[in-house]
Amino acid sequence: MNKPLNSHRPVLLEETIEALCVRRGGKFLDCTFGGGGHTSAILDGSSENFVYAIDRDPQARERAHALQQKYAGRFTFCNANFADAGKICFPTLNGILMDLGTSSFQLDDGVRGFSFKEHSKLNMRMDNSCGQTATEFLNRAPESELVQAIRDFGEERNWKRIISLIIENRGKEALVYCDLFADLVAANARSLRHGKVHPATKTFQGIRIAINGELDALGKALPALFEKLCGGGRLVVISFHSLEDRIVKQFFKKMAGQAVNRMDGEPSQLREKFAKIVTTKPIVPDESEVSSNPRSRSAKMRVLEKIK
Ligand SMILES: C[S@@+](CC[C@H](N)C(=O)[O-])C[C@H]1O[C@@H](n2cnc3c(N)ncnc32)[C@H](O)[C@@H]1O
Repeated sequence: MNKPLNSHRPVLLEETIEALCVRRGGKFLDCTFGGGGHTSAILDGSSENFVYAIDRDPQARERAHALQQKYAGRFTFCNANFADAGKICFPTLNGILMDLGTSSFQLDDGVRGFSFKEHSKLNMRMDNSCGQTATEFLNRAPESELVQAIRDFGEERNWKRIISLIIENRGKEALVYCDLFADLVAANARSLRHGKVHPATKTFQGIRIAINGELDALGKALPALFEKLCGGGRLVVISFHSLEDRIVKQFFKKMAGQAVNRMDGEPSQLREKFAKIVTTKPIVPDESEVSSNPRSRSAKMRVLEKIK
């Protein structure tokens, strides 16, 4: 299997290749191209494979360019949000991959404004050609949207204090630079530094999810993508936090004709079964992957197979 374009390491790579059954040969969609690590492995899995790849990040196009030459005739890329998958014309697919969240390219590039260690502008847009930056969001969002971002999406216990700080600091530099904002949160929030986890981690996560509309995009994409699978085709989703994982798990249960949660009172005879759940429990990285790639530690992979 080829190494990806640079130091970026695809999460659960072997497990993904196995779950997508790439060695049979077929047409695949990689909804989150990133650095192309998973895409390259799919293309290497069989010379019969074709990969359609998308990513909302305009910089992913440059990385895709290298693959376009290497796998000429078997790979196409377009910049798109997977939320719009229903509007994009793909052939019937044998497998679809979603490796959610941000890429190391986005996190490690100070200019992109995702990292609380950098003295760079708080930006956090995956698609930096549109939408509002994190600074604009913090300065303009009504309090209800800040609550949704920091309490609901960030699951930050000290959300009230952090929201007061944001409102007090509107118009000031503390909301402009990543490191200054992270220091403000760290100095005032009661959350303790657990091991290497920075006290502003959850706040940053919540703001990122909010400004990129990540959960809405996932909720819209799943049914549209499922439609594009052939019978026996597989949908593989790798998520990195419980909010994403819950959306995926509930969608899989619905497609498999199961109760979505304890509140779901629909009589079982009325439920239709369109798919089978391949992973009754999510697949997670083993210790060696987590120690060599700490960013993989919260990954959970779920696999759904469309009924023929
Ligand atoms: C974890 S990285 C994927 C890494 C990739 N699997 C690899 O091996 O290099 C996630 C990627 O998904 C992209 N992304 C996140 N949300 C997206 C969306 N709604 N539509 C399209 N791309 C999205 C991000 O821009 C990022 O490049």
